Amino acid sequence: MSEIRRLGEVSDRNLALELVRVTEAAAIASARWIGKGKKNDADGAAVEAMRKAFDTVAIDGTVVIGEGEMDEAPMLYIGEKVGCGGPAMDIAVDPLEGTSICAKGGPNAIATVALAEKGNFLHAPDIYMEKIAVGGGLPEGVVALDAPVKENLRNLALAKGVEVADLMVCMLDRERHAEKIAQIREAGARIMLIGDGDVAGLIAVSQPLTGVDLYLGSGGAPEGVLAAAALRCIGGQMQGKLLFEDDTQIARALTMGITDPNRIYTTEEMAKGDVMFAATGVTSGAMLNGVRRVGHEAITHSIVMRSKSGTVRYIEGHHNFVKKAVVG
Ligand code: FBP
Repeated sequence: MSEIRRLGEVSDRNLALELVRVTEAAAIASARWIGKGKKNDADGAAVEAMRKAFDTVAIDGTVVIGEGEMDEAPMLYIGEKVGCGGPAMDIAVDPLEGTSICAKGGPNAIATVALAEKGNFLHAPDIYMEKIAVGGGLPEGVVALDAPVKENLRNLALAKGVEVADLMVCMLDRERHAEKIAQIREAGARIMLIGDGDVAGLIAVSQPLTGVDLYLGSGGAPEGVLAAAALRCIGGQMQGKLLFEDDTQIARALTMGITDPNRIYTTEEMAKGDVMFAATGVTSGAMLNGVRRVGHEAITHSIVMRSKSGTVRYIEGHHNFVKKAVVG
């Protein structure tokens, strides 16, 4: 192996770990707002801390999934350049995924980031996306976004060698899902309704201990891309379809490179190539524990993973406020 290639791989590996610093900073900052009923303050703290943490990451990064357009978000807006120089990378961020969860002190709020080579993320506009996902090790296409709910459940049960009644479907608890919920219950499967946070909900399909077999329903499109990045790393299949409400949204998506409004995107089409994903728990959930303050420390729990190697790492950080000022 040439020296240059070897050095490139070493710095790539470091990059994956550097990402954790970014999500840790956002999680620690927003944790101060847990349970205070102020979701915008919690989000603002996470955004500011994450933006600052990016300053020391060795990339020439461009935010492609972020906090909104330049004129509507002061930081981490779409198109913003981040990093202190290095390989050209596209970045998807959600500094606080689950703002309401954090405000209410509920489970599963996370700070999250994904990274890919330039051009490899779907530039999803901030609209809804219809989503379906299953975990790894299943036949390709075992479920399909455009197939009837009952058929998907039957095929998934067959592939897993279980009864439909054994399957657990995770969904956001929303009125718009009433019909799907009725169909799932009629088929005999079980449903885990979550209040918010579908990135964690989607990743749950790939984590056997969560007991989730299938994720269904609509949620934010940017969150869909982040979840696709995670599933590329950890294993799993996802499909997503952008749900446009009017022609203005379609026209805007066109400027972001989306030419077919009816297209169903696969996991790979949402997050291509070598993808890195990191998340830190803000509040505790099935995937990660939340931030804990113990004496002069904040303790964080993070997951970092990379599609190229398939390595998944859980990292516990002890952040010493006496030795190092930590935002929040
Ligand atoms: P925020 O962190 O932006 O509040 O998003 C929380 C969330 O639950 C996402 O996980 C999900 O994709 C989206 O909101 C669903 O939107 P809605 O609440 O409009 O159904």
